[in-house]
Order: sequence, then structure tokens, then C-alpha cells
Amino acid sequence: MSIALLQREDNKIIDGKSIAHQVLQEVQADVSKIKQKGIDPCLAVVLVGDDPASHVYVRNKVEKANVVGIRSLEFRFDEQLSEVDLLKTIDTLNTDPTVHGILVQLPLPKHIDEIKVLEHIDPKKDVDGFHSENVGGMSQGRDVLTPCTPTGCVRLIKETLGQDLSGLHAVIVGRSNIVGKPMAALLLKENCTVTVVHSKTQDLHLVCQQADILVAAVGRPNMITASYLKADAVVIDVGINRVLEDGKPRLVGDVAFNDVLPMVSAMTPVPGGVGPMTIAYLMKNTVQAARLQHPDL
Ligand code: GUN
Repeated sequence: MSIALLQREDNKIIDGKSIAHQVLQEVQADVSKIKQKGIDPCLAVVLVGDDPASHVYVRNKVEKANVVGIRSLEFRFDEQLSEVDLLKTIDTLNTDPTVHGILVQLPLPKHIDEIKVLEHIDPKKDVDGFHSENVGGMSQGRDVLTPCTPTGCVRLIKETLGQDLSGLHAVIVGRSNIVGKPMAALLLKENCTVTVVHSKTQDLHLVCQQADILVAAVGRPNMITASYLKADAVVIDVGINRVLEDGKPRLVGDVAFNDVLPMVSAMTPVPGGVGPMTIAYLMKNTVQAARLQHPDL
């Protein structure tokens, strides 16, 4: 490939790291203002069990909180923790006025009812936006705490296409509670025409080919190839898949990056696309949670 062509392709890569850095700077400024008013924003992170990926995510979240001046508390429990004891920990955090955000890292061990735990978190401290009160509020387009990954994706799309997404057709591949469903609600709020496709969708290719914006969140390595896309689509790859390539471990997305890049107007890489935005929006949500608890801030 010529250097000119390579540079053109490079310009299409949405730099999640740099946009996340911008978001974190906004958060840092907000945190300073809040501290001047006597409130010290604090995020509590709860981790049960020893899933290695969850340990990495939690460490990254705590580190980033420290960078932007948010106080963090970590609660690590072994796999055997009972549901009752986890609910008691959440009770304590719910009633502690110095804690503004609570995040229970998922997945939880099988003997713990995930929905029961998420419903136990005070909706005003629910920085994941997973409580049904927040899910309902989001689907009504109200200004509630919304899930970090899809909220970060909307920011990436707006940084790429501008603030007005009205009338654009967004196709979301995947219907998870963490990404697919909230993504649909958030893009509807932006006046997009939204289609959610999944493993049972007929003519998946044909539907995806209608997308001005395609969000891939299925957890299937390299599933979306150029044949799924209309020319000049914007592609957001939420997938984080660990694969072995030539015997070496590698992170890849749900989108076949090299195949798709020549076809799109812009796309996110993996890593360095959506991932940094998830953490940045967790910090933004912690500030929003502090403001919900102290409306005078
Ligand atoms: N596990 C994978 N993604 C998430 C997330 O966004 N929040 C929580 N709490 N756990 C997760």
C-alpha cells in the first residue's frame, strides 16, 4: 500500500484513547469544582471471585479514579461469599453518605442472583446504570445514570459525525443488557433509526448493509467483515475477544479490522477504541452520581 493510502486509512481510525483523555480532563475539572464545595467524590468497587479479566478491569477502574481525583474503595471477596453478605455490603455502601458511586463487577459467581444484587444498589449511586429504575428512565429519555460502554460509544459517534445524528440508521449487532439494549435506547434519544439484530435475525447481512452506523457487540471474534457493510459506514467495535494467533494470545474485536477499514468512513480499533471510553464514562457517572445526591453542587 502507498504511504498516501496508508495515511488516508489511518485517518479513519477513531482514537478512543485520546477522546477518553479529553473526557477524563472534563471529569477532573468537575471533581475540582465539587471538592471546592466540600464534597469528596468517592467510588466503591466490589469484586467477588477470581476471574482474571475482572481483576484487570477493577484495577484499571481504581487507577483511573485516582488519576482524576476520585477517591476509591475496593471490596474484594472470595468466590464463596454468600448472597446475603454481598447484599449487606451494598446496604452499608448505600447508607454511607461519603460513598457516591457503587459498582459491582460482573459476572458474579453462579450462586448469587445478579439481578437481585443490581436491584439492591441505590439508583442514585448506580454508576453502571443497570438498576431497573435507571433502565426505565433511560428508555423514557430521562437524564438518569446510563451504562458506561454505550454512553461512551455515543460520544465516539458524535466526535466522528458531529452532534446531530438525526435520521441516521444505526444497526446494533447484539442484544445484551450491558451494551445492545441500552445502545438502542441512547441512539433513539439521538433521533436515529435503530435496528437491533441478533443470532436469530434473518438476512443479517442485508440488514447490516443498511447501516450508516454499525455497533458490533456480540463477542464473536472478527464476525463483521466488509461484506456486512455499506460504503462509508461508521463502525464501533465493542468486542473484546481473547484469541490465539500463531500460538500467541491477542485481543481482537467483533469486526475484522483489516478487511473492513478500506470500506468505512471511520472505525474504532481494538484495543484503544471503546475500552478506554468505558472507564472514562464510569468516572463521569461517579461525578453525576455525586451531583444527584447533592443537587446544590
Ligand atoms: N463486566 C463487564 N462489563 C461490565 C460493566 O460495564 N460493569 C460491570 N459492573 N461489570 C462488567
